[in-house]
Amino acid sequence: MDHFLYKDGALFAEDVPVSEIAAAVGTPFYVYSTATLLRHFTLFDEALEGVDHLVCYAMKAASNQAILRTLAQAGAGMDVVSGGEYLRAKAAGVPGDRIVFSGVGKTAAEIRLALEGGIRQFNVESEPEMVVLDATAREMGVVAPVTIRINPDVDAKTHAKIATGKSENKFGIPISRAREVYRLAASMPGLEIIGIDVHIGSQLTDLAPFELAYQKVAELTETLRADGHNIRRLDLGGGLGIPYARDNQAPPLPSDYGAMIRKTLGHLGCEIEIEPGRLIAGNAGLMVSEVIYVKSGEGRDFLILDGAMNDLIRPAMYEAYHDIVPVVEPGAGVEKVKFDIVGPVCETGDTFARERLMPPVSAGDLVAFRSAGAYGAVMSSEYNSRPLIPEVLVHNDQFAVIRRRPTFDEMINRDTIPEWL
Ligand code: LLP
Repeated sequence: MDHFLYKDGALFAEDVPVSEIAAAVGTPFYVYSTATLLRHFTLFDEALEGVDHLVCYAMKAASNQAILRTLAQAGAGMDVVSGGEYLRAKAAGVPGDRIVFSGVGKTAAEIRLALEGGIRQFNVESEPEMVVLDATAREMGVVAPVTIRINPDVDAKTHAKIATGKSENKFGIPISRAREVYRLAASMPGLEIIGIDVHIGSQLTDLAPFELAYQKVAELTETLRADGHNIRRLDLGGGLGIPYARDNQAPPLPSDYGAMIRKTLGHLGCEIEIEPGRLIAGNAGLMVSEVIYVKSGEGRDFLILDGAMNDLIRPAMYEAYHDIVPVVEPGAGVEKVKFDIVGPVCETGDTFARERLMPPVSAGDLVAFRSAGAYGAVMSSEYNSRPLIPEVLVHNDQFAVIRRRPTFDEMINRDTIPEWL
């Protein structure tokens, strides 16, 4: 569910007409709904009610500080994967004891940054990382709280580029070696073992792989406790999928997910952390773009938009489907037509949809990409020297630009020409 609905023939973001934002900031742009962000966070929070828990928003999905602050004020923690994300979360006002640090390649500098600023825990992914973390913590005279990410060798049944829980993936420590690695961690005075971490992939539309992984975590908890480790926190990662195509079968709800967590892990008395990203931000954002040209090709018509693969890369990168709808509501019974919907970037990969049936639109019309709130703006680039597009946050009938469009000068002047030229 989201808060982007047609009212009186026009698409609204909460109580603001999308066309009004377009007139104010120009196209293309991203727009997020505060109400949708909060609703999705609350669904997770309520799904774990009664269990000691923290929902740590995976901020890689959409990391604008206004989004982070909105969620943090509602009680969210953050899952960060780089020094930049850590500092961004802190700048948004998230306290260190609500920030968990994930990621397969944390550098000593990033570790130091987090130990200095305060951290809830590091999710450690390898033995060499453990050695660096231990050394850095001892050097600083502190003890680093850690969970170890185990790789449960479970097939998440999602797109290969976003599956992480199989043994051939680069993530975590094979579950078969967990006891040995926990023993090693326990011998390091700079580390304090807190618990176990697992994350098997993203855009999962079935609970079965999660359940399989969490059962393995439950067993491992008992084994490690028997080995003498004080396992008291389980970080279960993110990954619950969203319905990208509206007519598709709906993925499980956060409440189903919460019930499954209680069933598989509730008896252990551990504190539970989850790291959802996509489900919180995905349907809370649109990318809005203008049709520049409608070009008739051989056997197909192209909608050429002012938004491109550099602004929203998911279709090019993962063959991802996004609903694309006109900002002016099509009349009832209007006959749909087929378009190839593309951007102006000079490669064929810059195609958002092929042979997409949609209401007829013409040059100058606005279209909105739905479900673009997660992994949209954060994955954008300036390819083809196209400035990063603005982000806007709506709250009831108000809207604010939360990242403005850089000028061409700002973009170009970041380069420096060496003196020998
Ligand atoms: N925790 C960890 C350790 C992760 O690696 C991720 C996502 C999450 C949590 C959040 O997963 P989510 O709830 O959002 O599924 N760019 C891709 C998705 C990459 C996901 C990477 N890791 C896309 O556009 O589909």
